[in-house]
Amino acid sequence: MTKTSLLETKKIRKSFVGVVALKDVSLNVWENEILGLIGPNGAGKTTLFNVIAGKEQPTSGAIDFRSQDITRLRPDQRCHLGIARTFQIPQPFSQMSVFENVMVALHFGASGHTGQLEDEASRILAQVGLERWAFDESSSLPLGARKKLELARALATKPTLLLLDEVMGGLRPNEVTEIMEAIRQVRATGVTIIMIEHVMRAVMGLADRVVVLHHGELIAEGSPAEITRNEAVIEAYLGGAANVSA
Ligand SMILES: Nc1ncnc2c1ncn2[C@@H]1O[C@H](COP(=O)(O)OP(=O)(O)OP(=O)(O)O)[C@@H](O)[C@H]1O
Ligand SMILES: [Mg+2]
Repeated sequence: MTKTSLLETKKIRKSFVGVVALKDVSLNVWENEILGLIGPNGAGKTTLFNVIAGKEQPTSGAIDFRSQDITRLRPDQRCHLGIARTFQIPQPFSQMSVFENVMVALHFGASGHTGQLEDEASRILAQVGLERWAFDESSSLPLGARKKLELARALATKPTLLLLDEVMGGLRPNEVTEIMEAIRQVRATGVTIIMIEHVMRAVMGLADRVVVLHHGELIAEGSPAEITRNEAVIEAYLGGAANVSA
């Protein structure tokens, strides 16, 4: 079977004052895969998401999405093309209810009667297991529910490519299992997913392929099993501040 590239980063470089966060990162993401993106703290993972989603401009390099150069597009334009992301620190409209937050995201991505959008919002909340929180103010949610709301808001824009930045971080084991199942279902609908994750059980259980960033460089790529026994990866984690939880 031939693989089709949905996203390609071409020698992406991102320099900040005093640090080069990404050093010529070239990467293909295949249609409908779940790609795990791992690496020690400060490796450049979130910066790569920021560059893909358009929050940051690369210092050099280019990004193709469906063979179209999107490097200069604004974040909202990329969102309309089908790129959605969650934030490492959840960013809901905190005074609004969970349901209202999802409705706002739906209005951005879709057209339809309010009734249809409400049905859609309910469906998405069920998909991520948030029904019981639907009418609670977002600021009052416990961490697990806030993470699920990040996922729901991203799903509401009907993404082709979903970027997940540590959606499992700080969750209880049963919540991790729930979100893993939700992610499996999302992929089954045809969505391509890149997940940044320190929770190794989730990465190894979900990803088809894993890439490893270290000091802004891609140092390894392979199946989850290959990555866990890769010498350079073991060294990167043991040599730095190890932050891999079981
Ligand atoms: N806006 C910014 N201005 C200056 N430096 C930045 C900025 N954003 C990120 N950096 C730096 O770039 C490097 C990569 O940071 P990044 O947040 O991408 O890492 P990460 O792999 O997501 O880490 P973590 O696992 O801790 O979330 C770090 O040295 C960070 O301090
Ligand atoms: Mg990060």
